[in-house]
Amino acid sequence: MLLKIENLHSGYGKFLVLRGIDIGVNEGEIVVLIGPNGAGKSTVLKSIVSMTKIQSGRIIFKGQDLLKIATHDLIRLGISYIPQGRIIFSNLTVKENLLMGGFILDDDLLNSRIEIVLNIFPHLRKKLHLQADSISGGEQQMLALARGLIADPELLLLDEPSLGLAPKIQEEVFVKIQEIRDSGISVLLVEQNAKKACEIADRVYLLENGEEVLSGGRDILAHPLIQKVYLGG
Ligand SMILES: Nc1ncnc2c1ncn2[C@@H]1O[C@H](COP(=O)(O)OP(=O)(O)OP(=O)(O)O)[C@@H](O)[C@H]1O
Ligand SMILES: [Mg+2]
Repeated sequence: MLLKIENLHSGYGKFLVLRGIDIGVNEGEIVVLIGPNGAGKSTVLKSIVSMTKIQSGRIIFKGQDLLKIATHDLIRLGISYIPQGRIIFSNLTVKENLLMGGFILDDDLLNSRIEIVLNIFPHLRKKLHLQADSISGGEQQMLALARGLIADPELLLLDEPSLGLAPKIQEEVFVKIQEIRDSGISVLLVEQNAKKACEIADRVYLLENGEEVLSGGRDILAHPLIQKVYLGG
């Protein structure tokens, strides 16, 4: 198993959000976290990158205890985190944003990685010299994904990549995430759009109130609990 989260209790200061979370991500999988607002989905990702206060439990990546590793060293280990909200450097160009994603690489490697990533996101090639906030919302999300791939991660942590995008663009984002998985990168994906996310998932976990209430394959969508959470039935 690439990533293993065991009995995680984590939160902010004294405020405990996650109470006993167990999540696993195997190589080459898309694992999806769904759940209502405030369930603790983002907190799971932030815990992996040491941005929360972990009270107990373990997070193991490739046999290493992540609690002992500083956030800025995670990219070297092979973990790339793309936070909620399409975070790009809006006053830099598209190219400069991509360069930022590879700050740990030497110049030759960085240039070859940018080429590889631009082949996955060919639309960005024509936009390289534009300021990042001048491209469309969908393109900004693609840029955030692209930047996350520059350092050649083994695990991509993605927080709500489809949020605020038109349905057609959301569709494109989900297709890209599948392409990323098919290229051998594991993905831990947080999504509000449970239906779309489950369709591309290898495994799904449902969080509610900081607890894991259900897990299973993509067919989990038909489970009465999910119907209840998402459809109020
Ligand atoms: N920096 C923070 N400091 C204190 N509390 C926080 C912080 N970030 C989140 N919380 C609280 O932690 C709980 C879980 O939040 P989290 O962002 O993980 O939920 P989420 O499932 O990602 O929700 P959403 O779907 O709205 O993004 C919420 O009660 C939230 O108010
Ligand atoms: Mg969130």
